Amino acid sequence: MKGVILAGGLGTRLQPMTRVTNKHLLPVYDRPMIYFPIQQLVNAGVEDILLVAGGESAGDFLRLLGNGSGFGLRHLNYTYQNGEGGIAEALGLARHFADGEPIVVILGDNIFQDPLEPAIRAFQDSPEGAMILLKEVPDPERFGVVRFEGDRIAEVIEKPPIPPSNLAVTGCYLYDHRVFEIIDGLTRSDRGELEITDVNNRYLSWGGLRHHVLKGWWTDAGTVESLYRATSLVAEDGENAVLHTHEQPTGNA
Ligand code: DAU
Repeated sequence: MKGVILAGGLGTRLQPMTRVTNKHLLPVYDRPMIYFPIQQLVNAGVEDILLVAGGESAGDFLRLLGNGSGFGLRHLNYTYQNGEGGIAEALGLARHFADGEPIVVILGDNIFQDPLEPAIRAFQDSPEGAMILLKEVPDPERFGVVRFEGDRIAEVIEKPPIPPSNLAVTGCYLYDHRVFEIIDGLTRSDRGELEITDVNNRYLSWGGLRHHVLKGWWTDAGTVESLYRATSLVAEDGENAVLHTHEQPTGNA
């Protein structure tokens, strides 16, 4: 399966730290944030990866990551998103890369303790429709949240003021080739973005949205509070095999 990491956007919630660099290049404990989604994909056996970069320091991704050989990759693909038109807009840039195949997508500011391999394997067993990864959180109003009817998802709601559950939609999504048709049909939300939640609700209306609930901790790192939390969680995790490689990957190793 091919993997897409979305690291566009301008990181405005982390100003002034993001005034002269990209959010995903900021440190989370002992390494740049972007190392985590890359390592997750590599650990899950995903070796064909596209990184969608954005902002004024996009060139620094190349300097940091090079061709991905520091992660054991033969090659790393890059593309560029102008502005911050939303997660679904950034994903739309992956159409040619995906080339009709199913994809696993990770947001560049998401850090997962659990390995992603079980979800990826489950999706690959029947690679149709979509799968979202859920995690119980204390502050669901900050995220996409699912509303259940019985044991079925009835709706995904983006940042609801009164959340119908405490199950957040994390930033890892698995999609079949139809995701790009769906993105073509989206309209911009009130915040001017093409929303990934609209994509997930479209799959839901087709009866093709599956879910997987994570057991380990999960966090984003896009606000001062969550970046601090991410750093603490990674630091406390010690030598967790999922997160840590034996050596720090370097750009041109
Ligand atoms: O972290 C999970 C949450 O991520 C989900 O629960 C929400 O449903 C989803 O909308 C998203 O919420 P945020 O508002 O926190 O997303 P944010 O704008 O911080 O963007 C998250 C990542 O997505 C960011 O690190 C890079 C990528 N992105 C974002 C935008 C807006 C892009 O590549 N391009 C973009 O234009």
